[in-house]
Amino acid sequence: MKIAVIQGPNLNMLGIREQHIYGPMSLDQIHEQMKSGATQSGIELEFFQSNLEGEIIDKIQECLGTIDGIIINPAAYTHTSIAIADALKAVALPTIEVHISNIHKREEFRHKSMISDVVTGIICGLGSNGYILAINAMHELLKKWK
Ligand code: DQA
Repeated sequence: MKIAVIQGPNLNMLGIREQHIYGPMSLDQIHEQMKSGATQSGIELEFFQSNLEGEIIDKIQECLGTIDGIIINPAAYTHTSIAIADALKAVALPTIEVHISNIHKREEFRHKSMISDVVTGIICGLGSNGYILAINAMHELLKKWK
């Protein structure tokens, strides 16, 4: 079982960036935590972060035929990117959208997600723990899918 974890712009700044919103953990620390949970369940994780929309789209397209499921936090592109939504639709893989913060409690421009209606499920507002929950949820999803 292979899962791609795709992280959008500025998530490479976690641990430094707005800690009162995103918490103290760096992206590497979050990924390490995900890895320890996943390995126990026999899940292989592939991590990718980019600040560029086109690179995120290329990564999603590369998942076709190589990856069983996608966990994605498109960060600010969540609210703007029809192209990322189209790429997710095109590959049609089980997908979980993750947001560290509760986007619905924040500025109005964050309330709309362009990808929510193309993903399988959403985890939002539970901090970095949301990524661990996403691994477990994807594991269950894929067991049923296969
Ligand atoms: C975010 C929420 C987005 O609105 C924001 O632009 C981010 C991170 C989150 O994980 O809470 O960069 O996706």
